Amino acid sequence: MSELKVDFNRPVTVGNEFEYMKQAIENRHISGDGPFTKKCHAFFENELGVQKALLTTSCTHALEMSAILLEIQPGDEVIIPDFTFVSTVNAFVLRGARPVFLDIRPDTLNLDESKLEAALTPRTKAIVLVHYAGVGCEMDMIMDIATRYNIAVVEDNAHGLFGKYKGKYLGTFGSMASQSFHETKNFTSGEGGALLINDPALVERAEVIREKGTNRARFFRGQVDKYTWVDIGSSYLPSDILAAFLFAQLEQREKIQMHRKQVWELYYAGLKDWADAHGVQLPCIPSDCEQPYHIFYLLLPNLELRQKLIAYLLEHGVYSVFHYLPLHLSEMGRRFGGKPGDCPVTEDVSDRLLRLPFYNDLSESDQARVMEAVTKFG
Ligand SMILES: Cc1ncc(COP(=O)(O)O)c(C=O)c1O
Repeated sequence: MSELKVDFNRPVTVGNEFEYMKQAIENRHISGDGPFTKKCHAFFENELGVQKALLTTSCTHALEMSAILLEIQPGDEVIIPDFTFVSTVNAFVLRGARPVFLDIRPDTLNLDESKLEAALTPRTKAIVLVHYAGVGCEMDMIMDIATRYNIAVVEDNAHGLFGKYKGKYLGTFGSMASQSFHETKNFTSGEGGALLINDPALVERAEVIREKGTNRARFFRGQVDKYTWVDIGSSYLPSDILAAFLFAQLEQREKIQMHRKQVWELYYAGLKDWADAHGVQLPCIPSDCEQPYHIFYLLLPNLELRQKLIAYLLEHGVYSVFHYLPLHLSEMGRRFGGKPGDCPVTEDVSDRLLRLPFYNDLSESDQARVMEAVTKFG
């Protein structure tokens, strides 16, 4: 194995993270909803134009909050793309929902909107979608179907902060959206997330659910003279120290996004000819989508070549990874009736996808080593 290695991911500080964390401690407010949490909320509300933003301890928890807010009950069905992280589905299954796994489009790897209408039943309570790699789903058609059938849409926007579809930010289409600030994301606090709320009717209950089912937020605004248990809920708010770290990253939005754009474009330009010559598919970005440059992936011709490339890159000190396994074929997915052949595009893509190293301070020389190793593979 090569002495020098290029990690798949490396979380880095980009601005005032240490200073702001120190300030958070000096503020003597290190629990949730302190000054830095409020700055993050205002940032998202102003930049994205959402009705309300609430930081959460993870994207998983933001999704759990959305399932509670939609009053998902046992017996309800929820449409989920088959190609996603387990949290997208688990949050709804926790409330008793039956997941209906929908296959993805072979180009963007997003939920295949042409299959959506046929999958709806009178029990369908929500459509949960993922903007894979931050490339927008076909929102016009999805929102049209959801509106006609009066079904809520939740956007799992874990990958897609600052991505746009037809000029409008991802996360602003559904009644709610979840964000992730896990260390693998463009903007991070180590672990973290946010619930973005576009439906004003959901805001007050969201505050209650996030604060252990209490009306504490109303109490702090002086709207009630004591706070008490008013609903179900949990503890979904992060420490202000984490919010301080996150805010420092958000302040560097331009710098982070500029660098990631350069990395993504260099990969694309440097690998295009090789990919064409070797039957490898590169990411597809439709003209009406602006991507936030979150992931760079290759779709190899088959599983064997994908596994060989991962091993070859590792021998050359380059760490690459694959994801996601088809949900319907997982142990849990099979309990909901999933069987081979149900979602053929996901089954195929899942075998062939490989993600290349991509992080906020990936240097040109390290990236050149990655591309050299890939193109020498064959
Ligand atoms: C599509 C998607 N949704 C949800 C999550 C969960 O995010 P978190 O780790 O912040 O809970 C991830 C994690 O990477 C993800 O990729």
